[in-house]
Amino acid sequence: MSQLKTKHLLGIKDITEEEIQLIFQTADHFKDVLNRPIKKVPSLRDVTIANVFFENSTRTRLSFELAEKRLSADVINFSSSSSSVKKGETLLDTVNNILSMKVDMIVMRHASPGAPHFLAKHIKATIINAGDGTHEHPTQALLDSFSIREKFGDVAGRKIVIIGDIMHSRVALSNIFALQKLGAKVMVCGPATLLPKYVKELGVKVELDVKKALEWCDVANVLRIQLERQQMSYFPSLREYAQYFGINKKLLDSLDKPITIMHPGPINRGIEITSDVADSEHAIILQQVENGVAIRMAVLYLLANQAPV
Ligand code: CP
Repeated sequence: MSQLKTKHLLGIKDITEEEIQLIFQTADHFKDVLNRPIKKVPSLRDVTIANVFFENSTRTRLSFELAEKRLSADVINFSSSSSSVKKGETLLDTVNNILSMKVDMIVMRHASPGAPHFLAKHIKATIINAGDGTHEHPTQALLDSFSIREKFGDVAGRKIVIIGDIMHSRVALSNIFALQKLGAKVMVCGPATLLPKYVKELGVKVELDVKKALEWCDVANVLRIQLERQQMSYFPSLREYAQYFGINKKLLDSLDKPITIMHPGPINRGIEITSDVADSEHAIILQQVENGVAIRMAVLYLLANQAPV
């Protein structure tokens, strides 16, 4: 396989293991490029990409922008907080106006689940989902699995536990899809109130005891509590959450093996993870961020170089 079958990257649910492996192989190449003194290639010269962000972002927005610039694309950035969305313009009108400026690809983050899928039905340009509400965050899952592959040589057979606010996490859902397609065993762990009822139907193990979850896994992917998406109180207090579900050094030292710690960011130090864990030799959090640029270069390159459909 040398090309993606999909025109857009809307979610991991829609792509095959073969397509994920192609993205990884392409990212391997771009990671080599990023380690050279000259980190830029002309692959996307004359391609114009708009990064359209309706929600806050540090890692994803900067990583996409850097990936686009490393590929020599022309880049424009849109942030809804400083745009005419504030004057009542619709999503479709906003994107159609951007596209009329001869833009080829849209990278979009939006608070509404399904917003990129809606756009894909109404516009001709390629769309990459940079996170849609509580639904999917496909490039985060790709960079997470790529980082596990880099650490262990392969994802297949590895035991990964995703810990925390599974209910409101697009990272969790995309990771579950990606890891299962790549042959990993997946567990979710968190307060029962933050585990969606349908989660068992996704074929994952469910564990409410964080110590047992850590004893089982090779890798723990620790998630942030997404207070901004919570409509009600799902646990008594952040202090109590940290006490029962926070990952700290004492807990990790009580295990009979070291485990690899991941976090998609942003970290709330002292709540879901303590600094002595986040900054430890077992954490690959900054390697995840580094790999994000190569993964996004691979996705952009492969989507821009498809055979016409
Ligand atoms: N991991 C992630 O999506 O981070 P940002 O919200 O900063 O983009």
